[in-house]
Amino acid sequence: METQIRKLDYDAIDMDVIEEAGRVLKEGGLVAFPTETVYGLGGDALNPASSEKIYRAKGRPSDNPLIVHISRKEDVYRIASQVSKEAQRLMEVFWPGPLTLIFPKKALVPDKTTGGLPTVAVRMPSDRIAAAFIQAAGGFVSAPSANASGRPSTTTAAHVAEDLKGRIEMILDGGQAVIGLESTIVDVSEDRPVILRPGVITRGMLEEVVGPVETDQAVIAPDSAVKPKAPGMKYRHYAPRAALTIVEGKPEAVIAAVNQWTAQAEAEGKRVGIIATDETAACYKGGLVKSLGARSREEEISMHLFEVLRSFDDTDVNCIYSESFGEAAIGQAIMNRLLKAAGHRVVEVPGSK
Ligand code: TXA
Ligand code: MG
Repeated sequence: METQIRKLDYDAIDMDVIEEAGRVLKEGGLVAFPTETVYGLGGDALNPASSEKIYRAKGRPSDNPLIVHISRKEDVYRIASQVSKEAQRLMEVFWPGPLTLIFPKKALVPDKTTGGLPTVAVRMPSDRIAAAFIQAAGGFVSAPSANASGRPSTTTAAHVAEDLKGRIEMILDGGQAVIGLESTIVDVSEDRPVILRPGVITRGMLEEVVGPVETDQAVIAPDSAVKPKAPGMKYRHYAPRAALTIVEGKPEAVIAAVNQWTAQAEAEGKRVGIIATDETAACYKGGLVKSLGARSREEEISMHLFEVLRSFDDTDVNCIYSESFGEAAIGQAIMNRLLKAAGHRVVEVPGSK
């Protein structure tokens, strides 16, 4: 299959291209599109055959449910059978935006789209290309992140093409996704809201709107035997091909340890990748150093995380060391992705924190 790649300009969105993409979807095809978080791989959420195609294109297990994307708040009532007061308040404050809510589903949503679950995940993106495309496609677009299963999510059209070219009909290119991490997922299908996946909309921000919010145990203690409520959170994710290790400790101690391990590895003829920050990048003496951006600006780190993880796959590094990040604010979302990418391999250096 030949994948059409169409560049779009936010200042003058070409509606002919949007209409064409909408037609592809309505006819059962797949279109990758930009959102403010990461690129999505879109199919018609109400067509079970489209959901099957998504699983096949990504190589994703089909018990892993898809998020249904909408472009008008009121459309949630067509697919959710119950929308609590808390959910309504969250929708008022955070939609459109990087927040996915889980509701009990209506029969209109095929089981194939929700991986057999009685609930449906719904998100209304703020990205204007996404909104126009969702509308042109009939209003309900199921979309997982547009990466091959297991690889880092995609934040540019070029990354999408790397993973999915030849497997999908079209890619809408809207440049770099500004947030870079997937949406916060909150289950509002039961009494108290529960965070199933952390994102840039933090627990503190949610609690300001609806009072106490819990976090799924599987997010807090990801190594435990607790079964995550978001099925996708159990899979190995985001992993670069070279083994990634997160190094925790005081910055000077981390730099010293990584420099020592790098020198050792290089003496054995191995290549080492290092994930650093602008504040520290110059302190590493060997290895292939890539900075995520300024540690003092978390939104830079989140924007570049997947791109940097992915970029090591184009190199010949044998292993990668990454600095670690605090868990405050969006740090929790950053560490959640980084820990998954590392398969939870963490080394604490002496003189820790
Ligand atoms: O920012 C995002 O959310 C991006 C963009 C494209 O919107 N999408 C995204 O989709 O990250 P995906 O499929 O990569 O991750 C969706 C997660 C998975 O872990 C899945 O298991 C969970 O949401 N999920 C979906 N429906 C669910 C449901 N009904 N109950 C619990 N978890 C659900
Ligand atoms: Mg994903």
